[in-house]
Amino acid sequence: MSTRPHRPAPATPAPGKVALPDLLLQKQRHEPIVMITAYDAPSGHTAAEAGVDIVLVGDSAAMTVLGHDSTMPITVDEMLVLTAAAARGASRTERAPLVVADLPFMSFQPSDRDAILAAGRFVKEAGADAVKVEGAGPTLDRIRAITGAGIPVMGHLGLTPQSATALGGFRAQGRTAVAALQLLEDAQAVERAGAFALVLECVPSEIATAISERVAIPTIGIGAGGGTDGQVLVWHDLLGISAGTSPRFVEQYADLHQTALEAIGHYVNDVRTRAFPATRHTYAIADDELAEFEAKLPAVAR
Ligand code: KIV
Repeated sequence: MSTRPHRPAPATPAPGKVALPDLLLQKQRHEPIVMITAYDAPSGHTAAEAGVDIVLVGDSAAMTVLGHDSTMPITVDEMLVLTAAAARGASRTERAPLVVADLPFMSFQPSDRDAILAAGRFVKEAGADAVKVEGAGPTLDRIRAITGAGIPVMGHLGLTPQSATALGGFRAQGRTAVAALQLLEDAQAVERAGAFALVLECVPSEIATAISERVAIPTIGIGAGGGTDGQVLVWHDLLGISAGTSPRFVEQYADLHQTALEAIGHYVNDVRTRAFPATRHTYAIADDELAEFEAKLPAVAR
């Protein structure tokens, strides 16, 4: 767990709503962009209050919130509920972050029409500002189609969990010269297709830096070193909410699992020993009302 003291942010961001040109400006000024995942109103609100630039409602929710083993099973309807909640929470702050929703597996892959309709639901029904799609290749057409419909798109390359099986598992990408050059080509193609930003996941630092220097759009890294234009971490990893080990790229800033375990353990003990509830947790009734109630109370049947 991180023992680093919390340092205030170097600059006080302007109030209002984070907009796409702000992120571009941050890249040009070498001011790191901060993104975090959030999946409900309290997490969206806390992330926004803490000053993040982007809230990503990631399909990692399938694993972190819904308890699946991969991101694949989560549906558009499930993601819509989580996105709407996170967007509501995030909007109730002085400087509202951009809210990006992940398009889940098979919501955009089949056709441009599917991609536009799915992306449209996230904007129209859930209040997202943008959507994120994984991959290059056939995904490039989807990026063009969705941006063509007026919805901003964030790309995602490197380890793309929706195609983890095809990639040989959850492993770092771009670790040979050929694979790294392909990654650069894909990143430039994603930019040309119209994406406003690009997530680079589990890519060697040198490769992520080289890509970041060769695309004009901001890159947001996760397990991609310090040379990207921003960073993203998953809410549950950062806060240590889930039990078990985290991937090597995670910096755990708190141990909320342990904190919750201790707190709930105290609650269990207090209920069992009748220490909770105490008088301060109860509501009063006037003496005369209580006396009248008790006088009229039927006897307890034995
Ligand atoms: O789903 C997710 O949380 C993500 C981030 C890890 C980038 O895609």
